[in-house]
Amino acid sequence: MFKVAVLPGDGIGPEVVAEGIKVLNALSENYSVKFDFKEFDINAERYLRTGELVTANDMDQLRKFDTIFLGAIGDDRVKPGVLEKGILLALRFGFDQYINHRPAPLWKPFGRLKRDVDFNIDVFRENTEDYYIGAGGRISNGKGVLDLRVKRELYDMRVRLDANADAADDYAFEIGMMSRKNIERFADFVINSANDIGENYITVIDKANVCSNIYSLWREIWTDKCRRAGKELGFMYVDAMTMALVKNPDKFRVIATPNMFGDIITDLLAEVTGGLGLAPGGNINPKGISMFEPVHGSAPKYKGMDRINPVATILAAKMMLDNLGRRDLGQVVFDGVREAFDKGVYTQDLGGKAKTHEMGDAVVAAIHRTK
Ligand code: IPM
Ligand code: MG
Repeated sequence: MFKVAVLPGDGIGPEVVAEGIKVLNALSENYSVKFDFKEFDINAERYLRTGELVTANDMDQLRKFDTIFLGAIGDDRVKPGVLEKGILLALRFGFDQYINHRPAPLWKPFGRLKRDVDFNIDVFRENTEDYYIGAGGRISNGKGVLDLRVKRELYDMRVRLDANADAADDYAFEIGMMSRKNIERFADFVINSANDIGENYITVIDKANVCSNIYSLWREIWTDKCRRAGKELGFMYVDAMTMALVKNPDKFRVIATPNMFGDIITDLLAEVTGGLGLAPGGNINPKGISMFEPVHGSAPKYKGMDRINPVATILAAKMMLDNLGRRDLGQVVFDGVREAFDKGVYTQDLGGKAKTHEMGDAVVAAIHRTK
């Protein structure tokens, strides 16, 4: 029995999560697996009602589960950043999910490139540091002190920034930070994952030609880790990488990226594979509680229309199964999606006619046919 905490979230989140759960329940009908789902209303609605984001009590409750299944967070009625940082990032950081794994296989025939080129990329995005630490602030009149704090499982750091400019202007800071132990454990995970799929080459992204303080530490650790593991590595600047992913995605298999650039290239890559509607992600803590979600957001304007593509969320459920040690069932879900597509069932974003619930039904039907 797997205990699954379900956070449908905002916008179209509940609709896509419902399809994911439908697919997981279909597995329990055919295979020896059981899920115990419990829903949490950690979302914009609750925030607007009570002012609460992720509370200490939420964290205590969630800790009792084997895994977390998340829809999407984000609502137009709330200022950008409040829910994203207060819920999504708070969960990623709070559960120390230091890896964000985003597979990007080409989904034929939906690939958006004009050329016929085959690829299957796994992106591993560092998930707790970089320019995402939320350390920053504003000073006015050129003078001010910012007392910052970054709290993670590995450390609790205080940073004081004492700024004094000769021009009395407003200044805003956003500080990026990386720590050796975190990058080391992240690199270890990526190297192990590359081993699992028999890949010897890792492409490591950064912008070391400009942000050379933060990314020289990153490079140093990657160089050392790959040398010890006998892995080949190539560094790529993120600007060149965006080009390369459109031009020659087939040249890449395993990509490791800092948090911020990972955010950007995984949207780009999702589009190249067929669209954001097909892209899942796993926020992984190898020794703790991981969290699975679609890469796309809450798309409020499509809420309640039964037209959004649930496949990204269904594939997030597949990643969840893999992570729970049931790769056999993860494969059944993946094959189910493939079969539904091959039968011509797909949603509007892919040029099809299927409604959200019909897409889920088609995957369920394919799963039922396996037994
Ligand atoms: C993602 C999203 C989030 C991120 C936002 C909503 C905070 O864009 O999961 O890629 O930047 O990580
Ligand atoms: Mg993103």
